[in-house]
Amino acid sequence: MKQRVLSGMRPTGKLHLGNFSGALENWKRLQETYECFFFVADWHALSTDYAKTSDLRENVHLMLVDWLAAGLDPRKSTIFIQSYVPEHAELHILLSMITPIPWLERVPTYKEQQQELKDKDLSTYGFLGYPLLQSADILVYKADYVPVGIDQLPHLELTREIARRFNHLYKPVFPEPQPLMTEFPKIPGTDGRKMSKSYSNAIYLSDTREVVWEKLRTMVTDPKRIKRSDPGDPEICPVYGLHRVYSPQDIIKQVDVGCRTAGIGCIECKQWLNTALTEKLEPIWERRSRYLNDFSLVKGIAEAGAKRAREAASSVLAEVRAAIGL
Ligand code: TRP
Ligand code: SF4
Repeated sequence: MKQRVLSGMRPTGKLHLGNFSGALENWKRLQETYECFFFVADWHALSTDYAKTSDLRENVHLMLVDWLAAGLDPRKSTIFIQSYVPEHAELHILLSMITPIPWLERVPTYKEQQQELKDKDLSTYGFLGYPLLQSADILVYKADYVPVGIDQLPHLELTREIARRFNHLYKPVFPEPQPLMTEFPKIPGTDGRKMSKSYSNAIYLSDTREVVWEKLRTMVTDPKRIKRSDPGDPEICPVYGLHRVYSPQDIIKQVDVGCRTAGIGCIECKQWLNTALTEKLEPIWERRSRYLNDFSLVKGIAEAGAKRAREAASSVLAEVRAAIGL
């Protein structure tokens, strides 16, 4: 029996290289060894964006398209949309009965997000319950491992606490899921800050060849390297930061030396990066165009995924109901 991996993402729309190398490349590897469940967390999106749902459907669809383009394989992984699997909601309500409110109030993201997203009224029941819904997402499959970023560790800790409390109150139903932390490369954006949708510094999987080159061409470099003859410091240059993730070793070395000795120019350096990135993106572009143009193909994959997910989730729920005495 393969061990189970589960992870989800809120539907933030199209994915950039930071999402790709931070999460998806890892998911892609995991699907080779584990039984994987990957879902688009559309209910979680509602917890902060309940007042603006006009682009929700499109964002869910674009996320699925990008996942498939990135190489998640529906023959290997179960890929689905959270709201297609109502079992998550049933477990959520059952877990809510045994969850002390202070456990939720002390999850760091609760107060942080309320501070950060001041323009939204987040004094809602659903927003407080965000991490508990996440616990239900995980426990409803008895997942062994959850690949997540460091910011999600408190949510996983809560999930383990809830699992223990349930097992103690009723019967030992749930294993305690473990985080799968991998060393993610830091992906700089075109301005040198962390790549992020909200900084407008991102390179998207959906960017065309021309757009990618335009973004690289105009990328900031070592600001002290003004003339071609000025030596530069690759360590402070985001172009080098991207080389380190996407270029082969010998090119990285040539950039490092060439930059410090003014042996290469920035445009040449960016052209090399463009070559490496294009090579990485080509298969993604190819798959992406296929999925983007075939709405019913993507819909079919999500529906088949939901069916498989529901089978797995409903057998766990049967145990849960019996353990509680429903
Ligand atoms: N909260 C996660 C995030 O913001 C998304 C998520 C929802 C998730 N449910 C999950 C991640 C279950 C892992 C497991 O990234
Ligand atoms: Fe950056 Fe490359 Fe120019 Fe050096 S040569 S400053 S690494 S773009």
